[in-house]
Amino acid sequence: MAKTAITLTVNGKTVEALVEPRTLLIHFLREQLNLTGPHIGCETSHCGACTVDLDGKSVKSCTMFAVQANGADVLTIEGMAAADGTLHVLQEAFREMHGLQCGFCTPGMIMRAHRLLQENRDPSDAEIRVGISGNLCRCTGYQNIVKAVQYAAAKLNGVPFQEAAE
Ligand code: FES
Ligand code: FES
Repeated sequence: MAKTAITLTVNGKTVEALVEPRTLLIHFLREQLNLTGPHIGCETSHCGACTVDLDGKSVKSCTMFAVQANGADVLTIEGMAAADGTLHVLQEAFREMHGLQCGFCTPGMIMRAHRLLQENRDPSDAEIRVGISGNLCRCTGYQNIVKAVQYAAAKLNGVPFQEAAE
């Protein structure tokens, strides 16, 4: 099949690639760029495991073609930690609040939480639950995920967070 040239920014770096028009963004990220943080759970836009940030929006990367990301600015979980390895506040929060068990949902959950906190720096419990409602977790029961987002929000706002993980 003929390939199409695309140029996009991924985790701050310019990427030029040839892709088949049928290639989904999640497959491009995982198989051509070796960015295996975004996971494939359902490939039908239900689970959110493949969530990345694209031009300032949360996108389920199994729902769009790589060619549609031509010119876009994409952020995946691999781009969240600092260059020296310091964890992003959300990564620290998920660790501290035990917001994961098997971890399969976690990269997508963190990317979704990142966009949520960009849009609302101090979300309520209900706003967090609605905000992550497109991301499924089969392990945690969500309680500690909500606490992790609250932990990160508190830290971003310079407010102490006193609650413990459950
Ligand atoms: S793999 Fe994309 S939403 Fe499940
Ligand atoms: S931690 Fe296992 S699916 Fe969420």
